[in-house]
Amino acid sequence: MTTIRRATRADLDAIVALERATFPEESYDPVALRQFLDLFPSRFFVAESAGEIAGYTLGGVDDAGEGWLLSLGVSPAHQGQRIGTALIAAVLEALCAVRVIRLTVLPDNAHAIALYERNGFTTEALVNDYYGPGQHRLVMARLAPG
Ligand SMILES: CC(C)(COP(=O)(O)OP(=O)(O)OC[C@H]1O[C@@H](n2cnc3c(N)ncnc32)[C@H](O)[C@@H]1OP(=O)(O)O)[C@@H](O)C(=O)NCCC(=O)NCCS
Repeated sequence: MTTIRRATRADLDAIVALERATFPEESYDPVALRQFLDLFPSRFFVAESAGEIAGYTLGGVDDAGEGWLLSLGVSPAHQGQRIGTALIAAVLEALCAVRVIRLTVLPDNAHAIALYERNGFTTEALVNDYYGPGQHRLVMARLAPG
């Protein structure tokens, strides 16, 4: 059984390992993840399965009051078990008071893009060099329902 719950400091080592396994070329480092826990504790969730951290997600709100889905990752061993679907539901609920939520995703990550589209995101722009030379990203946005 998989449980979705708020992340704690005790989860950080496992989240760092998961981050490296799911985003080997562009991982958040441990310092950033620690600070995200200080900044966004009510929007930082893990999926726990048989005592293991199987996935995590992180949302934030910027100075303009707009939301960001900053990360969503499920460990390779647990992918395809609807954990990503459960995590995105939790973080969207935590951001429900926000008018617009954005995220960035690799333009060729069809699986993730399909998951985001099923959750109400549409592509806003393709931004070249978003994270540096050659690091192009799609920016997707989701307007609050209603
Ligand atoms: C993208 C990711 C978060 C999805 O999480 P997941 O737990 O594997 O996804 P789910 O099991 O909830 O499946 C969601 C949907 O994708 C489908 N799916 C699952 N595995 C799939 C695969 N390997 N290829 C294609 N579709 C797949 C499921 O059938 C499901 O579709 P449905 O809702 O129509 O039934 C996860 O694969 C991941 O962490 N990937 C690497 C990191 C990444 O790309 N993160 C997002 C970057 S912004």
